[in-house]
Amino acid sequence: MPLDAPVLFKRVPTAPWGSANERIYVDYDDYVAQDGYAALDKAIGMSPEDIVAEVKAAELRGRGGAGFPAGMKWSFLPPPDGGQRFLAINADESEPATFKDQILIQYDPHSVIEGIAMCMLACQLDTAYFYIRGEYHHQREAFERAIAEAYDKGVFGENSRMGKVNDRAPNLYLHRGAGAYICGEETALIESLEGKRGWPRIKPPFPAVAGAFARPTIINNVETLANVPHVILHGADAWKGRGKGRPEGAPPQVPASFGTKLMGISGPVKRPGVYEEELGVKLTDVIERLGGGPLPGENIKAYFHGGISMGVISQEEAEQGVELDFDIGKKWNNLGLGTACITVIPERTSMVSMARNCARFYSHESCGQCTHCREGSNWIYKMLTRIEAGDGATKDLDMLLELATSMGSMPGHNICGLSDGTNWAIRTIVNKFFGEFEAAVSSKRTVSLV
Ligand SMILES: Cc1cc2nc3c(=O)[nH]c(=O)nc-3n(C[C@H](O)[C@H](O)[C@H](O)COP(=O)(O)O)c2cc1C
Repeated sequence: MPLDAPVLFKRVPTAPWGSANERIYVDYDDYVAQDGYAALDKAIGMSPEDIVAEVKAAELRGRGGAGFPAGMKWSFLPPPDGGQRFLAINADESEPATFKDQILIQYDPHSVIEGIAMCMLACQLDTAYFYIRGEYHHQREAFERAIAEAYDKGVFGENSRMGKVNDRAPNLYLHRGAGAYICGEETALIESLEGKRGWPRIKPPFPAVAGAFARPTIINNVETLANVPHVILHGADAWKGRGKGRPEGAPPQVPASFGTKLMGISGPVKRPGVYEEELGVKLTDVIERLGGGPLPGENIKAYFHGGISMGVISQEEAEQGVELDFDIGKKWNNLGLGTACITVIPERTSMVSMARNCARFYSHESCGQCTHCREGSNWIYKMLTRIEAGDGATKDLDMLLELATSMGSMPGHNICGLSDGTNWAIRTIVNKFFGEFEAAVSSKRTVSLV
């Protein structure tokens, strides 16, 4: 069946925030009326290996930030051994200015639930935990309602249309987080799920081998799973007909950017909101065509294009043709696509202040296990506070860059990627807006205001 519209999530009301009243909760019957659960029914007639093979062929990459190929992750699981096997759905969504999963969870929950059921079938996982950000009260209510509908309609439970999965009745439970950014990191999420402090685990072993309760566990982002029904219903080729694809002339083993992506826009634009676009769309196009351009009287200075942890992109770079795809990091000196939720930074913003604010976030959210992250983020925060107050010196800027660089994910230095986020956020802001930092240290006051 060919895809008949540029937008896959037809049910996702991607209207701007201002039109929130236009959004509706899509219940089970509405969802089914729009081809909903047809992909699950198709998957029930397929072997688990064939479902995984189709997702692999589609080269569907994770939408949680790192872009890891979903089919490949699924194939890392050991064969069933009679014990329990888990799926953990990452709905923690705590990256600053990121709110794309929220829209799916609250308004189109069955697209996520269908993807969850299909992943359970493909990977032979009997139990799924939907780990949702603690602050998402309305989203939790909507999702719990959808889970109840799904049980009622025979998606999960003793009477599941999937029958037994891994020799057990398939079940889906919702688990609330308690507002910690670190619990979005997949192994911290597992610790938290197990009732412990959200501290990332040293890998290996990877969760596919020993995850929740030391059993094989797949962890995927909400949006990644919501894409699976489209891949199975329409086929890998249709999926690959969308998006930018592979970089020109690259061999097939080079990871590509296929399909669409939910993109958020926040900041002083006319139509902030969540939109769905094909990967490879120009950043300026998203801001102008979808976001309506800057508000009257505002000029854009820079963007965080994927949450703050991927680093910053200047307006000059954007005008040179920055494209939102998985190769953005290699081309524009940042960490990667991240969540593709864009924060527009207006001209009037002080980048020194912006950097200080980011450092404050990382310092507060570091779990404290790794010395680089625990000490470095707080040290950077203190230095930036001093620089912003006019008490910095030129040598502080070298120190700032050296410190941030040393926080990158050098093998064996950090357990998780939080520290690398600090590195990219701070280093790109300081490097790309160095003049503002120089001006801040050269206007050194004689009396400290700190
Ligand atoms: C500090 C930190 C926070 C993270 N927060 C999230 C999050 O809120 N949601 C998410 O899906 N992934 C988050 N991730 C990435 C996850 O560790 C993991 O890669 C992802 O859930 C895998 O799903 P995917 O392959 O479907 O993208 C975070 C990673 C780090 C290092």
